[in-house]
Amino acid sequence: MSLVTLRVNGEDVRADIPPRTHLADFLREHRLLTGTHLGCEHGVCGACTLLIEGAPARSCIAYAAACDGASVTTIEGLEHDPVMEALRAAFTAEHALQCGYCTPGMLVTARDIVLRLPDADADRIRLELAGNLCRCTGYAGIVRAIQRVLREGVPAVPRTLTRLAPLGTLSRDEGEGLSPPPSPSPASREREGPVAVGDGRVRANEVRAGGNTELTQTLRLSLPPDQVWAALQDPALIASCIPGAAIASVQDGRIEGTMEAALGPMRARFAGAATVRYGTDRTGTIEGEGQDRASATRLSGSARFAVLPDGASGSVLEIVLAYILRGPLAQFARGAVVQDFAAEIAYLFARNLEARMQGRAAAPAASLGLFALLWRVLRRRLARLLGREP
Ligand code: FES
Ligand code: FES
Repeated sequence: MSLVTLRVNGEDVRADIPPRTHLADFLREHRLLTGTHLGCEHGVCGACTLLIEGAPARSCIAYAAACDGASVTTIEGLEHDPVMEALRAAFTAEHALQCGYCTPGMLVTARDIVLRLPDADADRIRLELAGNLCRCTGYAGIVRAIQRVLREGVPAVPRTLTRLAPLGTLSRDEGEGLSPPPSPSPASREREGPVAVGDGRVRANEVRAGGNTELTQTLRLSLPPDQVWAALQDPALIASCIPGAAIASVQDGRIEGTMEAALGPMRARFAGAATVRYGTDRTGTIEGEGQDRASATRLSGSARFAVLPDGASGSVLEIVLAYILRGPLAQFARGAVVQDFAAEIAYLFARNLEARMQGRAAAPAASLGLFALLWRVLRRRLARLLGREP
């Protein structure tokens, strides 16, 4: 059993539950919050969408134990939210529901759309709704309802229901009834038992800033800083160490190619370009963007990196990743699973870099506990990548 502490709709909740209990099942069966609906139960239909730390997430593919310490808001917790009140009125006026099964998840997603995209047109709204399936309405009324709220003005959101603030910046002094500073997401906590890179470890911290998801990675390499820095001057080598990346061309620091990613049943293949710039003191930036044509999802992001000495002969590679996904797959970019997924990409990158520089194949995989499934996906991809290497 796992002892889980959550803040559900503003109330602190503790429960001893089987570790494999999904958040949706926990809310429905232990808290009787049946407004969170279950449809597909594998992250596709969006019926179970709710807010974790203020951001939409699928509760059917989130373990309650993995959300330990998080703030969860269900459709019931949004009863008096002014944005939700406006959306409910608009859904009624525009006949945006029939059987209502999709409606709680649809409303939570609609709320995210009107808050995040004040200028969204009908096409953009349809794109954003691609992760919420409705069998009844044909979506026309839903799109009109969201447009109506945008047109009539989105009400201000109480601070208790705003998106996740940068860690440590929120305090009870800032307003009545304010949530306490959010705990680091499971992905942002230092792992129990270090994930070794050489004799070092991976650490990830996640914050959100300006719509970006930002991850700070600290990677220890058993190689001297000069050697790591020299390797980083080679964009082709950098790209070859990124799991799932394939290079089409490299010219004057500009890399064109593709990057594939798999998250459970979701697969994406982003094609695009990135530019590498080197600064002083062994620092640099990589900026790029790409698009997954199949889902019409766009990814843009940057990575700032610095190589620092670590002891007599080691180095620390610090990477600050900032990325934003726009489009249907964006809904999957806000959960802790994706944060861990990104952390694993950084981990594999560091491990591959180290292996390449030492002229050997990648080290054996480490155990990743809850995320072993994702790890196996990445390991298979890595094997394929290495298999293509000369
Ligand atoms: S029930 Fe969670 S996405 Fe379908
Ligand atoms: S209203 Fe019936 S599934 Fe959407």
